[in-house]
Amino acid sequence: MNLNFLNKELAKDKLLHKIIYFDELDSTNNYAKRNALENDTLILTSYQTNGIGRFNKTWETCRGKNLTFSLVKNFKLGIDEIHLINFYSSYILCQILKQYLIPFQNLEISLKWPNDILLNGKKIAGLLLDVKNLKNNLKKFIIGIGININQKEFSSDIIYKATSLSIETNIETTLESILIDFIKNFYDQLYYLKMREALIQNWIMNSKIMGRKVNFKMVDDDIEKEATVINIDYDGGLRLMFSDGDKSKFYSGEISLIYN
Ligand code: BTN
Repeated sequence: MNLNFLNKELAKDKLLHKIIYFDELDSTNNYAKRNALENDTLILTSYQTNGIGRFNKTWETCRGKNLTFSLVKNFKLGIDEIHLINFYSSYILCQILKQYLIPFQNLEISLKWPNDILLNGKKIAGLLLDVKNLKNNLKKFIIGIGININQKEFSSDIIYKATSLSIETNIETTLESILIDFIKNFYDQLYYLKMREALIQNWIMNSKIMGRKVNFKMVDDDIEKEATVINIDYDGGLRLMFSDGDKSKFYSGEISLIYN
């Protein structure tokens, strides 16, 4: 990792207060949870020994091949507005990755509720949000992001679900350039947090789930139920209609698209 370059572009009185880098770390989110870190701090590592995904799943990465980082950022938001950071961060990430795919017209990037990024239907990036000071108006968000960039192989249990930029494009991309693009755009477009309807609308426009048949699973549930996506509301809730005609709205859970 070229830290001098990253510091020159992002830190040293620019967007970030500080970049903390480790060759190896258990998890960038856990590090940020354990330590009192200042606003605008970025934790970055080349290898996570205990990378965490949503629902306490493992986030698998190959040493030095992918981006794994957490951005510590304070926002004044109410409890009912926390979801905006999820939608905002995944929307920005999707926009960035799209730029790298312009030469590849057959490759399609899309967002999957609540915050996955898919490339040709397989997961290329994921986001794990932790929040400190939940009861305060000023909350400390730990925005953990994993992007599969140059990894060529995945373990057998996720091989059909996961992909990377290099698997799909056959080219290697420098990790630093994607990280710099993400951070710059993240700080540049913060006005979206005040234009919530536009943010959710743009998010929806970049997702391919509206009207689609999906399997839905609750957080602690192993049972999947087939449903059709009706909408994503401005509060981030997913509206589904189940095969028996029942309609419900969910704020957490996981969907997988059904391909006919
Ligand atoms: C998911 O889609 O399940 C979320 C994956 C989030 C992975 C990132 S990698 C950097 C940060 N540190 C972690 O331990 N997890 C997040």
